[in-house]
Amino acid sequence: MTMIVVLVGAPGSGKGTQSKVLCGKFGVAHLSTGDMLRQAKRDGTLEPELLAIMDAGGLLPDGAVTALIGRRTLDADCSKGFVLDGYPRTVPQAESLCSMLKERTAELAAVVQLDVPRGDLEERLIHRRTDKGSGQIYHLLYNPPPAELLQDPGLLEHRKDDQPQAVKARLDAYDSMTAALLPYYEKQGLLRRVDAVGKPEDVTGRIYAVLEEK
Ligand code: AP5
Repeated sequence: MTMIVVLVGAPGSGKGTQSKVLCGKFGVAHLSTGDMLRQAKRDGTLEPELLAIMDAGGLLPDGAVTALIGRRTLDADCSKGFVLDGYPRTVPQAESLCSMLKERTAELAAVVQLDVPRGDLEERLIHRRTDKGSGQIYHLLYNPPPAELLQDPGLLEHRKDDQPQAVKARLDAYDSMTAALLPYYEKQGLLRRVDAVGKPEDVTGRIYAVLEEK
């Protein structure tokens, strides 16, 4: 049986952190549009105008991210299901996902919204660092990287869109995006809200609980 779950949440709400845990537990693929775009940036294959939007904290055109997801979901590691992290973000993206799943006779198990007050988000983002090698996400204060990574700053990524101006733009974009996206999924009875404040493992427990509800 396939398990397809969408994680929706503001920048810094913990989508990446929680997706990695869920995918490990359920043996499904982690599909993060943000990670795919950052990989394209490293490979030098991301078009300059898309790169500029991303670094400034704006949303990329729906068609560009939908094409990425459409291709990625055909990979063999997606056959048992996947956790979508950061996609869909708009109603047109949600409609494209719905059509794609229908064509493949698959369906969404749930859309989990990670709820964190805006005041906490900036603090999480500004202190985030990511291990360039493994993709592991750290927080300089709550979950610091191991000493060998801290000693060589070249091993840790401090995302360009985690600078204060871009953080503000991303949080504003999220607020306008959810105004339409969350009611779309609520009407379909798929939306599950989770309080995402507290220890990451406690948040994981709350996600398991809503996934078992059905
Ligand atoms: P993307 O990479 O998806 O960024 P985002 O949505 O802004 O989310 P983040 O990755 O910043 O945060 P997260 O929720 O994953 O939190 P994390 O687990 O890292 O997208 C980047 C850009 O790509 C977008 O701005 C856009 O330009 C473009 N893009 C991507 N998808 C798109 C789409 N569908 N349409 C259009 N454009 C798109 O945690 C953050 C920090 O908090 C870490 O330091 C972590 O250690 C810490 N933390 C996690 N959990 C907790 C906790 N419980 N308590 C305390 N700290 C915690």
